Amino acid sequence: MPKTLIEPFRIKSIEPIRMTTRAERERLLAEAKLNVFQLRADDVLIDWLTDSGTGAMSSRQWGAIMEGDESYAGARSFYRLQQVVQGITGMAHFVPTHQGRAAEKVLFAAVCKPGQLVPNNCHFDTTRANLEYAGVEAVDLVIAEGLQPALIHPFKGDIDLARVEALLKSDGARIPFGMLTVTNNTGGGQPVSMANIRAYSALLKRHGKPLIMDVCRFAENAMFIKMREPGYEHTPVKDIAREMFSYADGATMSAKKDGMVNIGGFIVLRSDEWLDAVRNDLIMMEGFPTYGGMAGRDLEALAVGLDEGLDEDYLRYRLRTAEYLGERLEAAGIGFVKPTGGHAVYIDARTVLPDMPVAHYPAWALCNQLYLEGGIRGVEVGSVMFGKRLPDGTETFHPMELVRLAFPRRMYTQSHFDYAAEVIAEAKQHAASVRGIRIVKQPPFLRHFTCECAWVE
Ligand code: F0G
Repeated sequence: MPKTLIEPFRIKSIEPIRMTTRAERERLLAEAKLNVFQLRADDVLIDWLTDSGTGAMSSRQWGAIMEGDESYAGARSFYRLQQVVQGITGMAHFVPTHQGRAAEKVLFAAVCKPGQLVPNNCHFDTTRANLEYAGVEAVDLVIAEGLQPALIHPFKGDIDLARVEALLKSDGARIPFGMLTVTNNTGGGQPVSMANIRAYSALLKRHGKPLIMDVCRFAENAMFIKMREPGYEHTPVKDIAREMFSYADGATMSAKKDGMVNIGGFIVLRSDEWLDAVRNDLIMMEGFPTYGGMAGRDLEALAVGLDEGLDEDYLRYRLRTAEYLGERLEAAGIGFVKPTGGHAVYIDARTVLPDMPVAHYPAWALCNQLYLEGGIRGVEVGSVMFGKRLPDGTETFHPMELVRLAFPRRMYTQSHFDYAAEVIAEAKQHAASVRGIRIVKQPPFLRHFTCECAWVE
């Protein structure tokens, strides 16, 4: 067998990307106030800002788009997608929303009360924000291994069951449900093992609490279980996914990830206990229950996408892509969160810029440098994103300085990855000349999206 794992598709429709010169990129980045979120996508060569809603749809999905039934109530496309979702999740109730954060908002508004507390391995930003908006405390309880970038462990997304149990004992009355994010995006796209899902579900059940999973990347998680968890080597990924869902009482989904579509999401629920409240909120916030926040054509594309996202050849190639870039970085002496996750590689900027003080934001500086060197856009996951400026003008810093390179699905080929590996290695070679930044203007919340920066002189 040849060693090379090829892209399991061929290209039918292409979208040109534009090379810019170094001088142009210097100017464009300066105009963007040294914040890559402010760049125009046309000025980016390889856009790895996010894997969310950015992937390529298949010809089968584009064909399904034409089948969309745009009826307001009772559209055929709703029933078609409902059947697919029920088949994968085994849940009785399917509630479409326009994306993941809308699913969170609708569910939490219907079910949560101020003063409550929700444990999770790690809450994604929007999940945390939606809980906090509802007056609920969001508690991250990922296992200790999940917080050490260089440590290799097959399931760094597992939740720490001992800490969950202690919390159930001390604060059980405040907990409406437990959550679990698969894969754990905030912790490096790391998977959760079946054993951990099963035990967490049983623990919650003993305390009378439901389990709600955040399942944007459930297919990638299922493939990791197949590849890493003893006993699942020969189990079809679809059956692994079904077993994962069998331990949950409900789920929120951003279909922009493993749903293989550009927009969409949903809630699923096993029992009808919360259904009326959820549907009532849905009608107010998103739309009538048979379309939620989606067009009929989007429901059709998702019905096909969910099936394609569980294809094992595709998933093997998908996980291999991140692993391949990791191998290239390892060879260049660049640190990253290990093992590589499903949808992204998280570079440890301190290994590229070891001498830069944290006050000069090394991960942000590296992000800028990747754009200047090679037109690549990633996202800083460090002290600009998670640090804070205090009223006295001092700063708090984040323990890790990472640059996330997240890969849109079915979009970039191996040569794009080879190119990126060279650009990152060059950034390391030029480390002495990489400039740190200071923040000159920032909003009170989520400052990374809109802050304006200047070079440190
Ligand atoms: N949960 C997780 C684990 C996510 O990664 C995201 C989105 C959401 C919920 C919210 O879904 O964007 O459809 O509203 N993550 C994207 C990212 C934005 O870049 O990681 P959404």
